[in-house]
Amino acid sequence: MNIIKLHATDSTNTYLKEMARNIAIPDETVVITENQQKGRGQRGNGWFSTPEGSLTFSIFKEFDVLPVRDHFKISMAVSLAIIEVLENIKVIRAMIKWPNDILSGNKKLAGILVENSLVNERIKFTVIGIGLNVGIGHFPDLPRAISVSECTEEPVNREELFDVIFKTCVRYLQKLNTTTFDVLQQEYERHLFHINEVSLFENARTMERFQGIIRGISREGELIVETDSGFTRQVGVKELRLLY
Ligand code: BTN
Repeated sequence: MNIIKLHATDSTNTYLKEMARNIAIPDETVVITENQQKGRGQRGNGWFSTPEGSLTFSIFKEFDVLPVRDHFKISMAVSLAIIEVLENIKVIRAMIKWPNDILSGNKKLAGILVENSLVNERIKFTVIGIGLNVGIGHFPDLPRAISVSECTEEPVNREELFDVIFKTCVRYLQKLNTTTFDVLQQEYERHLFHINEVSLFENARTMERFQGIIRGISREGELIVETDSGFTRQVGVKELRLLY
């Protein structure tokens, strides 16, 4: 295990990507910091963390052969790894909000940022950033955020939680090539927030709102939504927001 602990950095994902670009680093290297100063989230958003209340780390994983069309397997594997850990410590109603937000009930506990490096239609390596709210007491302007310590009656130790999440993610990632898309998809959909429920969506471009029912995810990792008219659409993460 190659663990790099930094006192502070802008973003563990940026740091690890830069490192991988410049030197040969061991597979499954992890970079962790208590002071992430410019945390990056999905869709160009930031990521809020505090030195005492958060876990912010990134994992570097190489693949011999992983076709680009299998990219969503990475998101599914890491989401399921985190769900497994949270369920083991009895976090209530741990769920995945597509594509890879981790919720307890309808509040966000963790976010995942997957950044792949491609060569000839293959994913050569990936940097998976995980931000987890462990014991943040107050979230400025983030009414939908919550911490692990508020969602379980078990004692939560940040170092132990990091260790078990890291190891569980690595276990899932090591099995990625031998686990079929369908097996991951089935587990992922079992934990998918709002599956088979009427939900409100917003078109990310036109801001138009509409109702629909999430029926699952496609082979490309797009969300399958049945609209009012009974019409089924597959939508990508840049096209749609689930309002909840
Ligand atoms: C999201 O939900 O928008 C994804 C958030 C990912 C945050 C983590 S924290 C560690 C790693 N470094 C970053 O800059 N981002 C990810």
